[in-house]
Amino acid sequence: MKVYISKILGFLLSLFFYHCQAYPHYKFVVKEVPYTRLCNTKNILTVNGQYPGPTLYVHKGDTIAVDVYNRGKYNITIHWHGVKQPRNPWTDGAAYITQCPIAPGAKFRQKIILTTEEGTLWWHAHSDWLRATVYGAMIIYPKLGTSYPFAKPDAEIPILLGDWWIQDIVEVVDELFLSGGEGNYSNAFTINGQPGDLYPCSKQDTFRLKVEKGLTYLLRIINSAVQDMLFFSIAGHNVTLVGSDASYLKPLERSFFVISPGQTFDVLLEANQSPNHYYMAAKAYTVAAKGVFDNTTTTAIVEYSGNYTPSSPPLFPYLPEYNDSHAAVNFTGSLRSLADEEHPINVPMEINSHLFYTLSMNTVLCPNNSCSGPNGTRILASVNNISLVDPKIDILEAYYYCIPGVFGTWFPDFPPLFYNFTAEDLPMNLEIPTLATEVKILEYNSTVELVFQGTNLLLGSDHPMHLHGFSFYVVGVGVGDFDNEIDPLKYNLVDPPLSNTIIVPVDGWLAIRFKADNPGVWFMHCHFDRHMVWGMDAVFIVKNGESPDTKMSIPPSDMPLCRKPVPITSKCLSFSIKSSIRRSVCSTL
Ligand code: C2O
Ligand code: CU
Repeated sequence: MKVYISKILGFLLSLFFYHCQAYPHYKFVVKEVPYTRLCNTKNILTVNGQYPGPTLYVHKGDTIAVDVYNRGKYNITIHWHGVKQPRNPWTDGAAYITQCPIAPGAKFRQKIILTTEEGTLWWHAHSDWLRATVYGAMIIYPKLGTSYPFAKPDAEIPILLGDWWIQDIVEVVDELFLSGGEGNYSNAFTINGQPGDLYPCSKQDTFRLKVEKGLTYLLRIINSAVQDMLFFSIAGHNVTLVGSDASYLKPLERSFFVISPGQTFDVLLEANQSPNHYYMAAKAYTVAAKGVFDNTTTTAIVEYSGNYTPSSPPLFPYLPEYNDSHAAVNFTGSLRSLADEEHPINVPMEINSHLFYTLSMNTVLCPNNSCSGPNGTRILASVNNISLVDPKIDILEAYYYCIPGVFGTWFPDFPPLFYNFTAEDLPMNLEIPTLATEVKILEYNSTVELVFQGTNLLLGSDHPMHLHGFSFYVVGVGVGDFDNEIDPLKYNLVDPPLSNTIIVPVDGWLAIRFKADNPGVWFMHCHFDRHMVWGMDAVFIVKNGESPDTKMSIPPSDMPLCRKPVPITSKCLSFSIKSSIRRSVCSTL
């Protein structure tokens, strides 16, 4: 009886704390608003009417809550890209992986739990391609009383790189699915929502950064574009990269760099040149043939203050050729963690799970060769030859409530076939993927090494791979096929960069390590939305640990579920706490 009463008391207390803890709250109202770019007006989906959306300012270790109101006409979710959300996959926002979308008219309070992240992250819609216009920056300052590992900059400016589509983004995706082909590409790139004056009708739509000679500026650069990696440069200035994906880097001076969708770089710009106007510019880095991608250049203008006659047009920076993959892979390979006393690294040295995942473009046949992929096929994409099919009930919900038939647990650790993955002419029969919803189960606190291997099936491509719920160390990168005897000897285990999104080079490989210390369901995917919706995705379930503080938290009360909530007496609910019993119920686990 006593036990019973204390249990009830405990439950009531937890309810009280759940509802009464005083986190700072923000309100995100998702709604359509007309915007004009490139002489064209269209309704776009925004948060609070803003494009790009509002910036969230937080400190390291904060927890905040965002109330997301869906006043638009589409289902939507919001993801806090790069936030590890310990034990709380519930508000991670990956549609059909960790939640059902928020329906029009509905609301979802999302908790954002920061821990070790410090620097720049961002948030974006995570259903279909709605993130094209629904995105914003998240700036994570050091804890109060502590400071940056570099001299305090004189000013800080978020620089959000994006893309603009004249067509409605929902139509773009619909056509992509109907045709089965490559689909359309963007009409412009943008800097803080502005294409810049190289585009028609865009003189007024140019972001201007006013600087004063002698001062230092911290640019928090985010690639929020849907499709493209971008080369970025500022005329007449080198920049110093000091952080990436909310983790500090050894200062790296560069005249240009490449940034993939999903990545962030914190960059110091010293205004140390003669007062003038200098272009800041970004254009696509891609291995696609010229003419089949957005081959335009977005610009902003860095304007020194003072009395002088600026060059007209402003000075233009050097950017590499659009397909300069050497420049791109050299850059990725030159990133190093700061790894000093205050920012120690913690690379797993003993590995429990060795995973080898191939990243491929694929094709499947269409009736009467009616699709617009190669030879009338439909284009798909895969990891270990499995093209992920979104389930009808999200995986987290199915896992937590033991709903059978939603996903399987045999996602393979290796591809079904080993061949020369990066050879010139690979046979077409290798191109056909398996369509499935499979997850990889990881033991709590196990250590993982994952080697991504790009393949040259159909068309080799770089893939910016992103993992939810974790940051990972990038211990190695190279071109060609991974050699599991020679390449590990060259790993950087001393100061590898800590990232959440990293470019796996075209026809190359990249190795990451992380510790599976975050129980929950976590999505991993290519951050090109085209590849993501084609199925270049994987899902990890990290099991609960033994103690209560190593288990997933309980779902929020307003969780958008995919099916009617089960009554609280359901056996499964209590099973979700006892994983041994749960294993026998969810037979696949
Ligand atoms: Cu930036 Cu799965 O997302
Ligand atoms: Cu990709």
